[in-house]
Amino acid sequence: MRIFIVGYMGCGKSSLGRELSDCLGVSFIDLDRFIETRYRKTIPEIFKESGEMGFREKESICLKEVSFFENVVIAVGGGAPCFYDNMDIMKNNGICFFLDVGEEEIVSRLKKSKQDRPLIDGKSSEEIRSFVHVMMKKRRPYYEKSQCIIKGNDIKLEELLMKVKKTVKLKK
Ligand code: S3P
Repeated sequence: MRIFIVGYMGCGKSSLGRELSDCLGVSFIDLDRFIETRYRKTIPEIFKESGEMGFREKESICLKEVSFFENVVIAVGGGAPCFYDNMDIMKNNGICFFLDVGEEEIVSRLKKSKQDRPLIDGKSSEEIRSFVHVMMKKRRPYYEKSQCIIKGNDIKLEELLMKVKKTVKLKK
């Protein structure tokens, strides 16, 4: 079993992914933390030193690596599905779940947690709002390639777990 959790920054991929892995009794990997450990640098440091494309290269290399791990839930950064052939890699090696949280909810969550996210750090509330609007439009087509989409502003573990059980069973 290999499950990928995808979606916009702030949609709850890491927290729900971790809870899901606990319930399923499998390991959890947060791709951003994996990258930080591999390169011994924080995500903001990588962005600062190598720029966004430098980060995307490292992200894709690490994604390929974790795509071979067995019995795992993997939460990937918001941009990961939208670069290179990352989405195909995930779909070919596992099942992708897209946590489709609404625009307003994402904006309000990101306003509270922008410091660790180089793409929005330093932006005003209005700038975050328009960034999120543009980002959602661009990224949605990639996320929507996921085998399973879960929509809502307050996605609960129970709902995700139910969908996972259904989807994983169907795949067997
Ligand atoms: C990014 C999202 C971040 C992280 C990086 C870039 C993005 O992860 O990978 O800052 O492009 O949306 P989260 O989605 O976990 O915030």
